[in-house]
Order: sequence, then structure tokens, then C-alpha cells
Amino acid sequence: MRISDDTIQEIKSQIDIIDVIGEFVNLKKSGTNYKALSPFTSEKTPSFFVSPAKDIYKCFSSGKGGDAINFIMEIEGVNYIEALQYLAKKYGIQIRETEETDEDVLVHNERESLFIVLSFAKDYFVRTLLEHPEGKSVGLSYFRERGFDDPTIKKFELGYSLDTWNAFYQEALQQKYQEDVLEKAGLIIRKEDKVYDRFRGRVLFPIHNLTGKTIAFGARILTGEKNQPKYINSPETPVYHKSQILYGIYQGRQAIRQKDNCYLVEGYTDVISMHMAGEENVVASSGTSLTDGQIAMIKRYTNNITVLFDGDEAGIKASLRGIDMILQSGLNVRAVMFPEGEDPDSYARKIGPSGFKEYLKDNTRDFISFKTALFAREAQQDPITKAKTIKEIVASIARIPDGVQRAVYIKETSVLLAIDESVLISELNKILISERQKRKSDAREPDISLIEKTAETTLDRSKSSTESIRLQEKESIRLLINYGLNEIEEEILLYEFILSELEDVEFQTPVYRTIFDTFKENLKKGHVLDADYFLKYGPEEVKKEVVDLVANPYEISVNWQNKRIFVPTEKDLLSRSVFDNIIRLKYRIVSRLIEENIEEIRELKKHDETDHLLKVNMELKKIKSELAKKLGIVVAS
Ligand code: CTP
Ligand code: MN
Repeated sequence: MRISDDTIQEIKSQIDIIDVIGEFVNLKKSGTNYKALSPFTSEKTPSFFVSPAKDIYKCFSSGKGGDAINFIMEIEGVNYIEALQYLAKKYGIQIRETEETDEDVLVHNERESLFIVLSFAKDYFVRTLLEHPEGKSVGLSYFRERGFDDPTIKKFELGYSLDTWNAFYQEALQQKYQEDVLEKAGLIIRKEDKVYDRFRGRVLFPIHNLTGKTIAFGARILTGEKNQPKYINSPETPVYHKSQILYGIYQGRQAIRQKDNCYLVEGYTDVISMHMAGEENVVASSGTSLTDGQIAMIKRYTNNITVLFDGDEAGIKASLRGIDMILQSGLNVRAVMFPEGEDPDSYARKIGPSGFKEYLKDNTRDFISFKTALFAREAQQDPITKAKTIKEIVASIARIPDGVQRAVYIKETSVLLAIDESVLISELNKILISERQKRKSDAREPDISLIEKTAETTLDRSKSSTESIRLQEKESIRLLINYGLNEIEEEILLYEFILSELEDVEFQTPVYRTIFDTFKENLKKGHVLDADYFLKYGPEEVKKEVVDLVANPYEISVNWQNKRIFVPTEKDLLSRSVFDNIIRLKYRIVSRLIEENIEEIRELKKHDETDHLLKVNMELKKIKSELAKKLGIVVAS
């Protein structure tokens, strides 16, 4: 769908950011801004700010920030279009769509018609469950027997399909739904002139997408018949990709964000029973192995996953790969094991809601102690098992992308298994190195992820010089767009000074280069741009950056001081800030040029062509020392 520009403008003009965000967080006025506890993390002191004047929010604990549309995208985990739809609904704005290409229309119409027919089917199955004599006596009584109460049956829109060949198909035809759409939605099956319902005599679990639309069904048999599958599921369709969806994400997403944790279970009934037990932050992978797409979906709401394992060891070992995949995505994993023969559904019913809560609390383990316990159970502490356990655990740790986190886990493993840390590190490095070699032969790109306890390399140095240049560029841009029109000396405005000083400088950080070039271009036409302009009209990546630059200069300077880069924060220190920044930026650039020059000299050593390079080297060093002198003055004053 393409929303027309007019509609987008109309929505934007109606947005009151306080009103929009206020629906999700409890905003308190604080000066000209509002503040609150971050809805994205579970913090104790408020670091979430909204500026009604600038129409932006900034969350310092999660780093998120942007306008009201961006906020809806983040909090609801939806895309841009869906966020606009949400806001249009909120403000009662009719969405007009732009002309679509023929192909757009086809694809769009197909998806829309599938959603419509699936929604019709869901309503029909719900009605059958609640109103039809067979639905009530067979389906509803089955759910009741399982302990599902009415609100829960309603929340999950559970249904029933009659035990006939094609009752649903007949009803759909009567309501003028097209046969080929019904088939494409996976609701009916056509076989040699015969048409029959896919789901017959089963209770139905509709599967919802993030916005609550029904996209598929899981259908459970009610009898113990052995020659019939327990579940029949919808096939893959243009709106249902099994590997990209999690059962329960729609009903659980708010709780997942609030609790900052997501329970991962196997089955439909596990999800529902956990809701009944008051644990609503839960999703199911529906009996298949976890995919990266599903992990990414959870990551929209939290970085913490707790995997709930049924109590059978073979099953657990088969699903350990899921844990490694989660680790690899940079998320934190914990795990809970249930007693032999129990799954979350059966166990929750067995011991009741408060007992279940207690059980989760007492039995949640981080993945290392979980894996350790798992392997230790096999054979009590014999050396071979122990070695295997160590290898298993270190292999998992090697998946974690963050080096610091790897180190923390290595330490923990060392304590838990009573093994010297250095043994573990060498095991870890073996894996990392062999993986790197594998990657290298896959692609010949240099890889710098593997700098574990090694000496500082050239790569390292140039990385840090790139970073210091980036920080100074950031400061130049921050000053330019916030204080461009301030006079810093008699008759000299800040932007004039920056532009004349940086005339020949090409910014190396793409987003700052974009901002700087846009600024210069507009100046030629006589417009002096400021932060508001970039917030309103900039491309997404520029907006995001500018939000950061206007949100809280003090916050920024604190971080900088940690990196030992001196940045005054007060507005009345403006002229000193800008002189200082410009000299520092130049100083960094020259240092970088010298590094590059030295590299070149080193490489050429054997060829005797270094004369010219050495001359350049001397020039650069002269400039550097002049800049250093100026810096000395600035810093000393
Ligand atoms: N599943 C499936 N097809 C099957 C068996 C299982 O799609 N033939 C999926 C379903 O999503 C199911 C999940 O795997 O929810 C877990 O399977 P299982 O534990 O056997 O089912 P439960 O949902 O626990 O059902 P119940 O408690 O009623 O036995
Ligand atoms: Mn079960």
C-alpha cells in the first residue's frame, strides 16, 4: 500500500507528540520537556525525554529517539506504513492511497483478499464454537476441560470446525467468497473435481500477525486416533510464512516489552496456559526449530529470551541449536527445564498459577549452568563427560558476537566447572580462529572481530583515529545546526567561521558529510539551515542523528569526556567551543594523514621511492605541532 503524500502531511500536522506517547508512558512535565521511565527498558530512574517544542523524543537508556511516527514503530514493533495507519486511526483521518502500478495492485489486492477471507473464516469458526450445537458440545467442552476460561478463548479467538466434508466451503460460497481465494488462503482443498474443507472436526487456533490479523490456523484433533496427525496447519501462503511468525506474539508483545523478557515454548496450548497463569510474555515456535527471522521478531521487544524445555533430555539436546542461534544474534538466553513428562501447559495446570510462577522463578538458569547441569546429569563427573561439557559450553560462548560478554561467560564457566580461565580462553580462541579461517576462505574480506587479548594492531590504531575524527565531526555539526546564527566574534557568525575553516575538509562520516553538504548547498541559495529543518525534511538516517545532536548536549559531552576529548558545554562558551573543535578536528585529520603516510613509507621501504613521502611527512609534522601549540593555548586558558 502506498499512502498519498497529502495523507502523510495531514497525519503529521495532526500529531501531538505528548498525546501519542502519553498513551504508552506516564509522562511528567519537567521544565519545557516531559520525562518518564523508559518503556524500552526496565529502568528505575527516568531517562526518557519528550520535547514538545522540537516534536521529538529521546530515550537515553536504549539510545532510541525520533518523532512520534518513529515512536509508534518502536513501541508497537511495526513498520512505517503501519505506524501511519495507527496514527490515522487515532486522529480519524481517512487514508488516501496513491496510484499503484498494475503489479502493485495485483500483489496488494491478493494479500488484502487473503486477509479478508481469513478473517471471515476466523469469525465463522468462532461462531461455530460458541453457537453451533456441535461446536458447543464438542469443541467448547474440550477447551473447558483443558481449563481455558471464556476470556482466554475470546482473547485467542479459538474456534471449531464441524465434522463434515465442506460446511465451511458452502457457507463461504453463500457469502460470495471466491473459490480460488479460499484455496490460496489454505482453507479448502481441491482434488479431482471435489472440494472439501482443510479443517474438519477440529478445534482451531488462529495464528495472528503483529497487527492482530489472522494469517493462518492450527487445528487440533480431539480424538486419540493414531492414524491422524494431532495438528493440521495452514500451508505456506502469500500472507503466512511459518518461519517468520511466532504464535502468541500479538497477544504477548506488550508484556514482553514490559517484562523485558520473552518466554519461548513449543506449542499453542503452552502459550494459552501461560496466559491463564498470568505469564503473558510468551510465544511459541509451533513445534519447529527456531529461525533467525523469529529471533529478530522477538528482538523488537526485548533482548532477553528464556527457553522453556519439556522435561525430556533427547528433546532438549535436539533444541540446543536454538540456544546457540539466540546467542549468535546477540541476545541473552536463559532456560528452564520442566520435570520429566511435563510441558509448560500440563505443568501450569498441575500446580496452579502461583506454583507455576514460583517454579519459573526458582528454576530459571543462565545458559551456562543450564548446559552444565544437562551434561553433568549424563554421567557423574567422569573426565570424558567433563571435557565434552566444556567443549559444548565454549562452543556456545564462541557464538556471542560481543567480546566483553564472551569474557564474562568464560569467567563464569571457569568458576562453575572449576577450570582454569586460561584453558577456556585457549579453547575459545581455537574455535574463533578456525571460524575466522573458514570465513576468510568464504570471503577474502579482512575480519577484525577477533582481537582477543592481542597486541594493538595498526588496524586498531586507525580504527580509533577514525573514531576520534568522527567525534570531532559530530561536534562540528552539532554546533553548526544548533548555534549556526550565533555571533562568536564581532561580525562573525558561527556558521561563517566553521564554513571558512573547513572549506577544504571532506567529512569522513557519511551522515555528517550529508548534513554539511546540504548546509553548504542551501547557503548558496541564501538559506541557513538549522536542526529543525533536518528533523523535518532530512532523510531517515539524518533525522535519527540530528535527534541525538539536539536532544541533550550535556549527555553528549559526558560521553566525550570519558573518551578524554575536552568539550565545553555552556552556550556562553560557544566561541571557545567552536575554535577548540575546529582545531581538534584538524589535529585529528593531520594525525591520521601522518599515520597513513608512515604506512606508505613502510610499504615502500624496499623500493627506495620514499623521498617524496618523507618530505610530506615533515610538512605534516610541522602542521601538527602548530595545531598542538594552539590546542595548548586553548586547553590552558
Ligand atoms: N505440532 C504440529 N503438528 C503436529 C504436532 C505438533 O504442528 N502433528 C506443533 C504444534 O504447533 C504444537 C507444537 O508442535 O502446538 C507442540 O506439539 P505438542 O507438544 O505435541 O502439542 P501441544 O500443543 O502441547 O498439544 P497438547 O498439549 O494438546 O498435546
Ligand atoms: Mn502439551
